[in-house]
Amino acid sequence: VEPLIGTLDFDSGKTDGLKREQKTLRELSGLFADEAAFALELAKDPSRLVYEVFTLQPDENAAHLACHVTIIQPGTVGKEFFFTKGHLHQIQETAEIYLCIKGTGLLLLQRESDVRTVKMQPGTIVYIPPRWAHRTINIGDTPLVFFSVHRADAGYDYRASTQFLKRILKKHNNEGYEIHNSF
Ligand code: F6R
Ligand code: ZN
Repeated sequence: VEPLIGTLDFDSGKTDGLKREQKTLRELSGLFADEAAFALELAKDPSRLVYEVFTLQPDENAAHLACHVTIIQPGTVGKEFFFTKGHLHQIQETAEIYLCIKGTGLLLLQRESDVRTVKMQPGTIVYIPPRWAHRTINIGDTPLVFFSVHRADAGYDYRASTQFLKRILKKHNNEGYEIHNSF
């Protein structure tokens, strides 16, 4: 395997040499709590960008690492802040490391009924142990940018995306966020 080289500009959040994938509103159907607000936003602009993932990873997976840069746009559906779908890894013993580069967010970690929220701001490093589902939420009004690394053959299990027990909502007429139960 040849060395792979990409760049991330810490000021602008722009990447180069990484493969881009995007998630628009229509791909997040069924995930936000307020279905009426979601329908409204979808009608306005179904291809509104919620987040992008930029990947640097070799084609061969075994014994390699994958790294990603995620950029979550600021925004809400109803009062709920924009987030990533969230997942577990198919290979359950996968751990992952996150490093926040820009913006303000929360990392929601969940293992069965155990839920943690970690504040993400530039410089925050989080080790996500195996078997903890993870979703990231942009609670600021600028893009949230973070870098992550895990074994390249980990795979993704998105069944976790509908099973998060907490939701992060914007405070009424206020700065900041509050954490609510999902169900
Ligand atoms: C990779 C990882 C991140 C997320 C990305 C998008 O294991 O945790 O790179 O993949 O933040 O989130 P999802 O994959 O949940 O749509
Ligand atoms: Zn992950």
